Amino acid sequence: MNWLTQTLGSSIGKKLLMALTGFCFVGFLTVHLAGNLTAYMGSEAFNAYSEHLHSLGPLITLAEWGLLTLALVHVLTGTVLFYQNVSARPVRYKVSKRAGGRTIGSATMPYTGFFVLAFVIFHLMNFHFVDKTGTTIFQIVSHAFGNPVYIGIYITAMIIVAVHISHGFWSAFQTLGANHPKYTPFIMGFGIAVSVIFGIGFGFLPIYITLIA
Ligand code: HEM
Repeated sequence: MNWLTQTLGSSIGKKLLMALTGFCFVGFLTVHLAGNLTAYMGSEAFNAYSEHLHSLGPLITLAEWGLLTLALVHVLTGTVLFYQNVSARPVRYKVSKRAGGRTIGSATMPYTGFFVLAFVIFHLMNFHFVDKTGTTIFQIVSHAFGNPVYIGIYITAMIIVAVHISHGFWSAFQTLGANHPKYTPFIMGFGIAVSVIFGIGFGFLPIYITLIA
């Protein structure tokens, strides 16, 4: 037990937690995107997918509590790491010079992270915590995307989610020790491919749903 508290109390232990929970989110987003892609086949396919999901009953409730726990661990650990980084460097540099190899993704991780958290809360208020009696999930989604402001928010959010993952994916592999001149470029490229697929796959949905609704 002592090693567990020691590991989690250390910086590397916290980064490990970030990496493992981050991988779980990539898994969740892959399943979520696969499900959402049924919308490209029309409203019936999308509603059938949603009904099938809800028919799983307690399994879905279990998955939701699991997701909430992962989110709490990821966000709280990330917040602690962020404040530790800030307080380790109390005096701001006069010239904001980028360290070699820094990307937009790596430099903005905490900010894109907080934005994604705000988006997920907004998203759940839109589609999850709504009265679903006498309507279908496709009607709820297409009604929301009937508002151009929502389309704008969702597309912006999908770009930010993609930027967050583009660095997080590679960084998680580094934390787990997968750092090798032979494999690192492949992992980086794969991370970018995954984030582009998420960005385009999710990001084009609001436009498509508005066009077919
Ligand atoms: C255009 C993009 C997206 C659309 C149209 C969409 C649509 C939906 C819908 C219809 C639900 C199910 C609501 C329900 O039946 O209760 C849902 C749930 C959810 N979505 Fe999304 N989603 C999108 C992107 C995202 C992204 C990028 C994330 C995360 C960063 C996300 C996170 C979630 C979560 C956490 C849930 C709750 C899962 C559950 O309770 O089982 N979604 N989404």
